[in-house]
Amino acid sequence: MSAYSQDVGADTSWPIEATRRMNRMYRRQRHIYDGTRRYYLLGRDQLISRLQPDAGASVLEIGCGTGRNLVLAGRLYPGARFFGIDVSTEMLTSAIAAISRSRLTSRVRVAHGDGTAFDPQRLFGIPRFDHVIISYSLSMIPGWRGVLQAAVARLKPGGRLHIVDFGRQERLPGIARALLLRWIAIFDVTPRDELERELSSMADGSGADLRFERPFRGYAQYAVLTLPSEPRIP
Ligand SMILES: C[S@@+](CC[C@H](N)C(=O)[O-])C[C@H]1O[C@@H](n2cnc3c(N)ncnc32)[C@H](O)[C@@H]1O
Repeated sequence: MSAYSQDVGADTSWPIEATRRMNRMYRRQRHIYDGTRRYYLLGRDQLISRLQPDAGASVLEIGCGTGRNLVLAGRLYPGARFFGIDVSTEMLTSAIAAISRSRLTSRVRVAHGDGTAFDPQRLFGIPRFDHVIISYSLSMIPGWRGVLQAAVARLKPGGRLHIVDFGRQERLPGIARALLLRWIAIFDVTPRDELERELSSMADGSGADLRFERPFRGYAQYAVLTLPSEPRIP
């Protein structure tokens, strides 16, 4: 074994298995990702338009993929700074190219990291953010509850966590629901039916405010969790 692979193997902060799994998934897909996902990752544009960061605010996307959301938000909010992490180095290659093409490199940065365990101070020199976004990533991450905990821990007091993902499809016709669930299973996607319950219990425990919606007849679920400005005194 080379010194290089020994080093990588010994570093437990390098998420080898998740990186391999997602790179397998996206090595070819990343080239057609933005063109195809625009038709079925619904609610991402609404999330971006409701973000409304203050001037000088910092925004982190966990599972930023091709950088599509970061680039759109970066253009829409020229006063804010944007950061993204993704476990797939293939997706990050596309994100870096997109950010560079859109000439946003001074305000939009991405880095390799696992959403369940990452250190933004080490990656970006920033310990906490005003906003954290998670868009259609929780449904692909087995340890999604850990991602929620990590996201909230990286928010400033008064900060907001914005989530959009697949919902239960409960108000769609049966055939459409069955076809969609079969289609997304090809990509190892599992709608997180317990998301609202999980966020409610996090909100109860921290004094946060939770807004939860099921737009597009339940196709998607959309949540905004706002932390209290002052931490709750137990
Ligand atoms: C369906 S894509 C969504 C990309 C982007 N957020 C969007 O809305 O277009 C899911 C992304 O989550 C990333 N991902 C999967 N597991 C992850 C993990 N453990 N940590 C960070 N990112 C992860 C994948 O590599 C992929 O880029």
